[in-house]
Amino acid sequence: MKLFEVFPLLDITLVKGQGSYVWDDKGVEYLDFYGGHAVISIGHNHPTWVKRLKYQMEEGISFFSNSVHLPIQTELAEKLGEVSGYGDYKLFLVNSGAEANENAIKLASFITGRKKVIAFDGAFHGRTSAAVAATDNKKIKAPVNPDDFVTFLPFDDIEAFDKAFDEEVAAVILEPIQGVHGIYEPSKDFVQHIATQCKEKGALFIADEVQCGFGRAGKFFAHQWMDVKPDIITTAKGTGNGFPIGSVIIHPEIKAWYGMLGTTFGGNPLACAASLAVLEVIDEENLLDHALQMGNYLIDAFKTMSHVVEVRGKGLMIGIELDFPIKDFRLKLISDYKILTGNSSNTNTIRLLPALNITKEQADRVINAFGQLLSAI
Ligand SMILES: Cc1ncc(COP(=O)(O)O)c(C=O)c1O
Repeated sequence: MKLFEVFPLLDITLVKGQGSYVWDDKGVEYLDFYGGHAVISIGHNHPTWVKRLKYQMEEGISFFSNSVHLPIQTELAEKLGEVSGYGDYKLFLVNSGAEANENAIKLASFITGRKKVIAFDGAFHGRTSAAVAATDNKKIKAPVNPDDFVTFLPFDDIEAFDKAFDEEVAAVILEPIQGVHGIYEPSKDFVQHIATQCKEKGALFIADEVQCGFGRAGKFFAHQWMDVKPDIITTAKGTGNGFPIGSVIIHPEIKAWYGMLGTTFGGNPLACAASLAVLEVIDEENLLDHALQMGNYLIDAFKTMSHVVEVRGKGLMIGIELDFPIKDFRLKLISDYKILTGNSSNTNTIRLLPALNITKEQADRVINAFGQLLSAI
């Protein structure tokens, strides 16, 4: 059998990873400033992560269904509550970002009894049913993916929001920092306005923290920069440092009933072990502050460079917009400097989403590579 070819591939064959480095099949080392796609939060194969997973496989249980008590789920919920500051919220565990948003939208519809959803231009929330409906990309919607229940509004436009928002809306779903689109932050006023309006009109405010959460933006959740408390928060990507896990974090006033949501693999003990390791390392290595410091250092350096139109983002979620399409530039970073970065739907913007524990030396290597390549143009 061959793989179903839906991914355009870079010409690299990776076989090993450690910290912020990955190696190809010929032993060539690369610096991973893409975090394997915003997924590697504490570094490839972090010893705490390996130890937690090994212990769970050797001494614990690898899998049983959600029909029994699994203490590691409770342990994860408690630790997540402690590290995130959301100890009073409830946790529903899933396997991916799309699944987290799918359940968040469904939950909002169950609770409000309504069907309308508000999403924003440039949004990416996943590739399944309701998640893809709320994603601003017609190319990834099939005829079985109706999106007529979603209204797309301009990002960061209070007037347009007020015009469209009414008492039929079940949920407003927002990335507190848009990722796939090219790292765009809404204003604090806009996000606070959404939260207030949702409360007033009985809709639920969903913060999609799949890419910007779990410490990536220098606070545990990016929306914590905006002093709001969403009704539902979704995570995935960095949640498991490469082990598939997503979460739906739910306001305490939202009540569950048996059978309301469900999953076979969500909350499996191995995924819980992986995520507990991520939270322990974020906590013990003080990675929120570190990510913020490293991010500021990188952002300040990129701002001084020629051909840089704009540097966007917070912490280690950085978009560098150049005055030309980045496709060849990104390939040069790989071939000449052995540095992996990400692209975005804005074809002039490079995305940096490295592990939260990168070193200053690694940051300097990236700054120097950008500086040399850009000054030679
Ligand atoms: C903000 C956001 N939400 C949802 C998703 C979908 O996550 P997954 O690919 O795990 O389904 C992504 C993936 O890039 C994302 O960036």
